[in-house]
Amino acid sequence: MRARIAVLPGDGIGPEVAREARACLEQVASLAGHAFQFLELPIGSAAIDACGTPLPDATLEGCLASDAVFLGAVGDPKHDALPAHQKPEKGLLALRKGLGAFANIRPAFLHPALVNASPLRPEVVRGTDLVIVRELAGGLYFGEPRSLTEDTGTNTLAYSRFEVERIARVAFELAMGRRRKVTSVDKANVLESSLLWRSVVKEVAQGYPEVALEHQYVDSCAMAIVTRPTSFDVVVTDNLFGDILSDEASVLTGSLGMLPSASLGGKVGLYEPVHGSAPDIKGRGVANPLGAILSAAMLLRHSLGLEAEAAALEAAVGRTLDAGYGTPDLKCGRNHVSTRGLADLVRVNVGNLLLGTP
Ligand code: NAD
Ligand code: IPM
Ligand code: MN
Repeated sequence: MRARIAVLPGDGIGPEVAREARACLEQVASLAGHAFQFLELPIGSAAIDACGTPLPDATLEGCLASDAVFLGAVGDPKHDALPAHQKPEKGLLALRKGLGAFANIRPAFLHPALVNASPLRPEVVRGTDLVIVRELAGGLYFGEPRSLTEDTGTNTLAYSRFEVERIARVAFELAMGRRRKVTSVDKANVLESSLLWRSVVKEVAQGYPEVALEHQYVDSCAMAIVTRPTSFDVVVTDNLFGDILSDEASVLTGSLGMLPSASLGGKVGLYEPVHGSAPDIKGRGVANPLGAILSAAMLLRHSLGLEAEAAALEAAVGRTLDAGYGTPDLKCGRNHVSTRGLADLVRVNVGNLLLGTP
């Protein structure tokens, strides 16, 4: 098949991991007989430097004209002092909004070879396989009014029935193909927006009688994710809670660098690792590329419909971990290799898998 893929490397380790994910896509395309055309576009701090704005019009237009968008990460401490609407992070928020991506799918799967990589005990984390479905286009991130004066900082948390219904449906559909359990996470003991959230999720649940639904307050959920992670299947929650809980869930998998994501529901799917630009390790060749590579696998599956290729790339990551390799963030007696070295091993494995070599 032919596909146009926009690649937005961004900042910090973004370009380092995006380069490896792109090379994996190129490898898959050449082995499976596809023609992928890549279009690199600026976003974030890199775009502020090049064009004076974190999301140039040409970047959004290029993304909208593509079949899928891959993003590394945005954010640079040198732009921390800018007002919120000019920061690098604003470029990512505007991109998500501009694409119409409202459903952020963040799987947290513990590969068996990494059971000792988490600071949590193996008997607690073994078998972790959950997905956070984070509402991405509303909530506190986008609510109006918002303002900052010398004395007051204001943001607004509001959800409409329409917004909750569509994200709940995504969660229930996903659960139908998994272990048929949805945990809806809110703060309904305090927040009106959560009361609406809870009641709409209950209504949507009536269309999915095979799916078990539970409601949990976000504070208690934050605790349960690290004490009984294997009890979760699909977790559906709002924009801010989902942001926080997904970084927490990454600890179960061994490293924040392991988590992929897909942002769906709009015209074009957006794929990015969950981690940020990691300025503390930028340029050292130690960034874990696996979250980015697993995001590329999600791109193959969700935007291009290439399930076999997606599964092969995921299996190649598994084989690489089984063989004992990893970047230094994976602290469990791995053979430590560089970002490029680890991705090279994944590419060798995906080649063997697609060519049927053992
Ligand atoms: P971060 O996710 O960049 O880093 C948190 C910690 O995890 C750091 O110690 C970092 O070294 C480590 N880490 C992250 N990714 C890693 C990887 N692939 N391999 C190995 N270690 C990894 O979060 P932060 O430090 O709070 O934020 C840094 C910047 O990134 C900020 O500007 C923030 O706004 C931005 N950010 C962007 C995104 C995104 O683009 N999607 C996500 C989160 C944060
Ligand atoms: C993420 C990030 C972003 C978010 C920031 C960089 C805008 O933390 O993708 O998880 O808060 O959504
Ligand atoms: Mn985040």
